[in-house]
Amino acid sequence: MKQICVVGVGYVGLVTAACFADLGNKVTALDVDQKRIANLKKGIMPIYEPGLDELVKRNVNAGRIKFTTSYKEALQGAEYAFIAVGTPSGEDGSADLKYVEAAAKSIAENMSAPLVLINKSTVPIGTGDWVADIVKKSQPQPIDFAVVSCPEFLREGSAIADFTNPHRTVIGSLDKDAANKVAQLHLPLRAPIVITDLRTAEMIKYASNAFLATKISFINELADLCERVGADVKEVAAGMGV
Ligand SMILES: NC(=O)c1ccc[n+]([C@@H]2O[C@H](COP(=O)([O-])OP(=O)(O)OC[C@H]3O[C@@H](n4cnc5c(N)ncnc54)[C@H](O)[C@@H]3O)[C@@H](O)[C@H]2O)c1
Repeated sequence: MKQICVVGVGYVGLVTAACFADLGNKVTALDVDQKRIANLKKGIMPIYEPGLDELVKRNVNAGRIKFTTSYKEALQGAEYAFIAVGTPSGEDGSADLKYVEAAAKSIAENMSAPLVLINKSTVPIGTGDWVADIVKKSQPQPIDFAVVSCPEFLREGSAIADFTNPHRTVIGSLDKDAANKVAQLHLPLRAPIVITDLRTAEMIKYASNAFLATKISFINELADLCERVGADVKEVAAGMGV
């Protein structure tokens, strides 16, 4: 049983918190949105996701998950802090990192023991190093910490199944002990674990998203071509897939 804090109780954060609680860990899920936390305390979910309601209720009743708006409370006794805040795209497509920055600062100001900070938000390459700088600068006194990238690949609508049966778990850190600690948390998921340095893990997430987009565009182009030449795109895809 590990003690975990999850920062940001949106799609990724709530699913992460509930699933880690269900694996037997003690989880405190934190959000700055007071209404969201008040509702969660009453059992009202902020999103609809099949199975989430029951999963959260079961773990609340078992005392394995609780909700708060207090960073002090959430970090008390925690060994791990997941950052799962939003990273909305700006007009030019770049990720807005203001929520990640605020979360990193708040963690630094409120941590009282060594901590592994794990970034689950989708962030540009180099963000992990930037988060480490923010934490170092914002700590009132130096306390050991490590930053690890553990990008999330879940899809809305099948988030719990995707989280609990991942194709792989990607863990990136220059700190081998921290990477191994995060790997231990994920062992019950029984998926291959890929351990890399921080920037490589961040790149794996962007590269995976780009590859998926490329595959979708490619098959759409093929569908047009199939229509013109009288071929069946579904069978073409199946034949390629084999
Ligand atoms: N939704 C998906 O399907 C999905 C899948 C994979 C990766 N991601 C990535 O995961 C990240 C989170 O996405 P999401 O869809 O869960 O976002 P979301 O908007 O559903 O939730 C983000 C939550 O973070 C909270 N928050 C903002 N600033 C905070 C702070 N300083 N401290 C505490 N909480 C704070 C917000 O109030 C909100 O509840 C994004 O980077 C996204 O790109 C999302």
